[in-house]
Amino acid sequence: MSVPFHLAAALDAGLKQAAATAGFDVALFVPEVRVAAPQHGDFQANGVLAYAKQTKQNPRAAAQALVAALPAELLALAEVEIAGPGFLNFTLRPVALEAWLANFGSATTLKTAAATLLAGQTWVVDYSSPNTAKQMHVGHLRSAVIGEAVARIAAFAGARVIRDNHIGDWGTSFGKIIWAYKHALTTDRAALEAALADTPLEEFERLYKVGNTTADADPAVLEASRAELVKLQSGDPENIAIWRRIGEVSVAAFQKIYDQLGIQFDHTLGESFYNDKVTAVYTELVTSGVAEESQGALVVFHDENPRYSRLAERPNPFIVRKADGAANYASTDLATILYRAEHFRADTALYVVDKRQGDHFEQLFLTAQKWFGRTGRPLLRLEHLGFGTVLGEDGRPLKTRNGENIKLKDLLAEAVERARRLVEEKSGELAEHERGAIAEIVGIGSVQYADLSQNRSSDYTFAWDKMISLEGNTAAYLLYAVARIHSIFRKLGASPGDAASETGASPLETPTELALARKLVQFADAQTQCTASLRPHVLCLYLYELAGAFSAFYTVEKVAVEDPAIRARRLRLCARTLLLLETGLGLLGLRTLVRM
Ligand code: ARG
Repeated sequence: MSVPFHLAAALDAGLKQAAATAGFDVALFVPEVRVAAPQHGDFQANGVLAYAKQTKQNPRAAAQALVAALPAELLALAEVEIAGPGFLNFTLRPVALEAWLANFGSATTLKTAAATLLAGQTWVVDYSSPNTAKQMHVGHLRSAVIGEAVARIAAFAGARVIRDNHIGDWGTSFGKIIWAYKHALTTDRAALEAALADTPLEEFERLYKVGNTTADADPAVLEASRAELVKLQSGDPENIAIWRRIGEVSVAAFQKIYDQLGIQFDHTLGESFYNDKVTAVYTELVTSGVAEESQGALVVFHDENPRYSRLAERPNPFIVRKADGAANYASTDLATILYRAEHFRADTALYVVDKRQGDHFEQLFLTAQKWFGRTGRPLLRLEHLGFGTVLGEDGRPLKTRNGENIKLKDLLAEAVERARRLVEEKSGELAEHERGAIAEIVGIGSVQYADLSQNRSSDYTFAWDKMISLEGNTAAYLLYAVARIHSIFRKLGASPGDAASETGASPLETPTELALARKLVQFADAQTQCTASLRPHVLCLYLYELAGAFSAFYTVEKVAVEDPAIRARRLRLCARTLLLLETGLGLLGLRTLVRM
């Protein structure tokens, strides 16, 4: 039997078709098919109620008319029942479950089926995007981890994804660093050069702090560092060379973290890349009447929004060029949008950035909308995927004991160290190098997963013990489920990708077999929800429930039974659970294990 991968979408389409047959006003009918609570079958459609209300009909009568008109292909997939005031409950037929498991049984078939959601689209994902001359700290974790998961989810759904690390490499801070480099330590140039060779990023970071404090205290130094910045921006070779060096050591240090997190960018086009593209933007904004001069600066008001209107009590316009003529964060971000539209031909650009930058993105997108509109360009979809703050157990932003930012590299090292203790305890019998490799995957994966399993809009509390635990909705729990299924196959001398172990399978029968099969087919729905909402926690929750359904099945049912037909069907359930867990964890950016 041929069965669609995205079953909810197929039910939705079938219901719309039935609505047309039954003479509904189809423009008013939205089926609203959702995964149902288990006692209501597999899917529920609530749209009949809203439709009946709008058209002043009896909802049960409308539901009956709709059911009578359901197409045969839909009825072959599921049994339907009218419940309550007019809900439609769909229960998938076991043959449909079997067919789904048979048809989407390999990584390739899965990928092809999943890739229909965003086929033909180009998405830019702007994530991580740290500022150079500073180390990444825990505040940079979320953008990197969420951004990578979102990029993978979009690519799995069929989009051409461009991963763009929009680093902050062009701000006032460089004047201060260059000043400090030239002046602050001239008495011991050799020591400075040695430190720069040894721990370059730490040293540049220190120079920035020196430059900053000195400039704060001494207006002459502030002036001098401004002059260094102007020299840099006008192409002075010495300053450009220092600035390049800062960029290189920063990107090399970032790369070490990206390697640990499994991140590979397609482009690292920082703010500086857009420096020669901002003037054209100013001109267009002025000629199209989007921007105006105000107190020497070029600004954009959004009168339709009380917060950004010129009539606001304290007007707070979007400053796109500073009064001193310099470009700022807004100028480069506007030029970036144009580049993404024209050069990458993107349909969508996502900004995975701290939600505290919400105002910036709101004004940026409003400005882009007017600018593109008035210059006759189609506007791409722009979306700020904001996220909350990582908190310590005291409820305040996570810091070290003496109030400093926690370096991301130290945090990841500690995660691996702590995971190591768990592995020593659990799997002491494995060889030393194997335990090390497992600890790396469990440690890093735990940090990623703890972050991803929370709704990204919320703040979350960073708690080591909860994060690196085999209990609850954690990475270790899921990685362990994966390793356990691998060991089932190892013990039977079978291999999960091998169709031979599934031939001659008898139909699913027992309640836990069927319950697991039902959970497996919901993968497509979790994928749909997660792609639509761009919230990875939706996928985390699904994977956690899937692992739970597997565990319930495996506790009750023996896989290594004599009867080859029963054994084959149970092995198939094991293989599919493994495939979907590994695929899902891979979409979240986690590496998995065959042994733990
Ligand atoms: N560098 C910025 C920061 O650290 C984030 C940049 C985000 N991307 C963007 N296109 N504005 O806050």
